[in-house]
Amino acid sequence: MYVAQPIEWTDKGVVMLDQRRLPGEEIHYTYTDYREVAKAIREMVIRGAPAIGVAAAMGVALGVQNSTAISADALQADFADICDALARTRPTAVDLFWALERMKRRFHELLESREDLSSIRKAIIDEAKLVHLEKLATDTAIGRFGAEFMPKEGQIMTQCNAGALATAGIGTALGVIRVAFEQGRKLHVLVPETRPYLQGARLTAWELHRGGIPLTLITDNMVGHFLKTGKVGAIVTGADRIAANGDTANKIGTYPMAVLAKENNVPFYIAAPISTFDLNLPDGEHIPIEERTAEEVTHIGGVRIAPDVHAAHPAFDVTPHRYIRAIFTERGIATAPYRESLKRLATAPAVGAVR
Ligand code: MRU
Repeated sequence: MYVAQPIEWTDKGVVMLDQRRLPGEEIHYTYTDYREVAKAIREMVIRGAPAIGVAAAMGVALGVQNSTAISADALQADFADICDALARTRPTAVDLFWALERMKRRFHELLESREDLSSIRKAIIDEAKLVHLEKLATDTAIGRFGAEFMPKEGQIMTQCNAGALATAGIGTALGVIRVAFEQGRKLHVLVPETRPYLQGARLTAWELHRGGIPLTLITDNMVGHFLKTGKVGAIVTGADRIAANGDTANKIGTYPMAVLAKENNVPFYIAAPISTFDLNLPDGEHIPIEERTAEEVTHIGGVRIAPDVHAAHPAFDVTPHRYIRAIFTERGIATAPYRESLKRLATAPAVGAVR
């Protein structure tokens, strides 16, 4: 089945598929400077929590590789600047900070073991490649755990794009759908367009269509109507940050979908890796919500669709844990009470870790 490749580390630089131009054009850029990678994250050339994490790790590797430092102290100073620049790109997807913390741990390990600069550079590049490589195994494990909860046949629904484009693996929510479909479940996916950035219409429809999985594109305001038909057997979405009590941030529009699902007895599931957990936050009220430009609301594809008025654009919302039936991760399934189940999974041994 076709799997999109949003990002790749090459000898020439970090190559990214420009997701802003999909589905009409498949354009790739090669970045050779960590500041370009930071700009690509901010401007959503690459997006989706796990994929942002991979891009951040590769941005750090590019910065360390190209640093002109000739001493460990000078490299350490550059390293701090590189991580700061990447940390300032987008605030909600915690995978970004998970990846930066992982690269920082590796870097300090190497400093402590007094490796020479070229060994440090090579090891940091290897670590970034490993962060990428692990996504396939992580998504596949999430897919296998979640597929069991999908109906044998019929309609299911998702939100935004939580596919290979968003994870650099096979996708979280779309990974569950892929694995279930490959298991022979006769699924038909309802894909909300996901205004204002249209990740559903542009990216999820594109991935499912190229993967041969039947779908129907709907507008966001049709969600309630379709859930009320009683034909939707399940909803599975991704996540950008999961607090200790299970409250979950995801693309704007997920919260009302979860409320309507409960109202219509449709099980609502989250598919997300452990790297999306933020157990330092007690509940969803503490999750930083990114506010993006008004222009992303007033224009579509560069065409103005509204008069020159004030427009709001919170890019994510938070679904309270009481609306979430289960959370599928690569280490197993979390159910209420989430404070215990998420902690248990976060400390469980990594299943089939690559290293
Ligand atoms: O603004 P985006 O496109 O980065 O938002 C992406 C989402 O909300 C995804 O559902 C989430 O990051 C999970 S991706 C596996």
